Amino acid sequence: MSGIILLCRAGFESDCAAEIQDKATELGIYGYCQTQPDQAYVTYHCQAEEADHIARKLALKELVFAREMFVLLSAIKLAGVEDRASAVLEALLPHQESFALAGDLRVETPDTNEANQLSKFCRKFSVPLRQTLRKAELLSNKPLAKRPLLHVMFVNSAHALTGYSYSYNQTPHVGGILRLKMPKDGPSRSTLKLDEAFQVFVPEHERDKRIQAGMKAVDLGAAPGGWTYQLVRRDMMVQAVDNGPMADSLMETGQVQHIKEDGFKFRPKRKNINWLVCDMVEKPARVGELMTSWLLEGDCQEAIFNLKLPMRQRYAAVKEYLAQITEQLQTHGTKPFEIQAKHLYHDREEITVHLRWLPKS
Ligand SMILES: C[S@@+](CC[C@H](N)C(=O)[O-])C[C@H]1O[C@@H](n2cnc3c(N)ncnc32)[C@H](O)[C@@H]1O
Repeated sequence: MSGIILLCRAGFESDCAAEIQDKATELGIYGYCQTQPDQAYVTYHCQAEEADHIARKLALKELVFAREMFVLLSAIKLAGVEDRASAVLEALLPHQESFALAGDLRVETPDTNEANQLSKFCRKFSVPLRQTLRKAELLSNKPLAKRPLLHVMFVNSAHALTGYSYSYNQTPHVGGILRLKMPKDGPSRSTLKLDEAFQVFVPEHERDKRIQAGMKAVDLGAAPGGWTYQLVRRDMMVQAVDNGPMADSLMETGQVQHIKEDGFKFRPKRKNINWLVCDMVEKPARVGELMTSWLLEGDCQEAIFNLKLPMRQRYAAVKEYLAQITEQLQTHGTKPFEIQAKHLYHDREEITVHLRWLPKS
């Protein structure tokens, strides 16, 4: 048994499968996917060396539908097994040379209701498992950030998958899920989407520079203000464009100017907008075109926006939307740019995209 495990939102397995199939083919690897509806992960079967190559060369950050991925080493049956830590050790020992000494261990589950009930067990089990793996010298005595990460994923209480990933191509969040608390005064739940997007798309070491107090932002389709709330929280001055009403609490901050205009026609008077965000529910191609035109005309430096997903063939559609945006920026722009897209934990039937011109190095 060898291949790659990719975790995704339940219901998006076929999109995650289509994506890994496509990306692996680009790397010259021809494996096949196995998945089941709503199991929240996909197995991509290929040779062990090919799986390792994917784990090294295919950047997780470039995958839209996969939240986390690891090289699959073994599947373990645990029904009736008393010493589960020893069973995991036994399953890992024949594969030790693939990861040598692991720097840390992650015990997790796919994001399904059934498996999520095991989260508490996973946290508890990681204590004896760590000890067992350390004793056997499979795991370092203290976390080593540069060594591979060992994964033990409980699909259910009787079945676990083991594997490893490389630290430089991994998410810091268990299961690839960034859990955020809904702020008490947040005007809508979608506030969490923009909070997550800022954290996923802007690396921590660049945040102070790229997200600063006093920056100017435009929020298209802003009402009632969940996204504006995140910009205000980061001490930005916001032009909130929407015919609908904005939350009073936001207007009282003095940082928000509510503009009742069509978001497709509005443009800022001055070209000093640092962040454009857009959550208008519209045809993805139309939103993509609007966002690229803001960048191309120098109306903003960075943009974060949602693209609504179709009911079917979501990967193929996403690939096309992103290709259109890329082509526009390549054809009409004169600078290198960055495009990132992710089906975030707080997204449902949409993905979130980030665009920016890259600064001169
Ligand atoms: C999903 S809601 C936005 C929610 C908001 N991001 C939040 O967190 O509270 C979409 C908003 O887009 C607005 N909208 C749709 N089409 C628009 C347009 N052409 N111009 C301006 N606003 C538009 C709607 O009025 C609606 O308030």
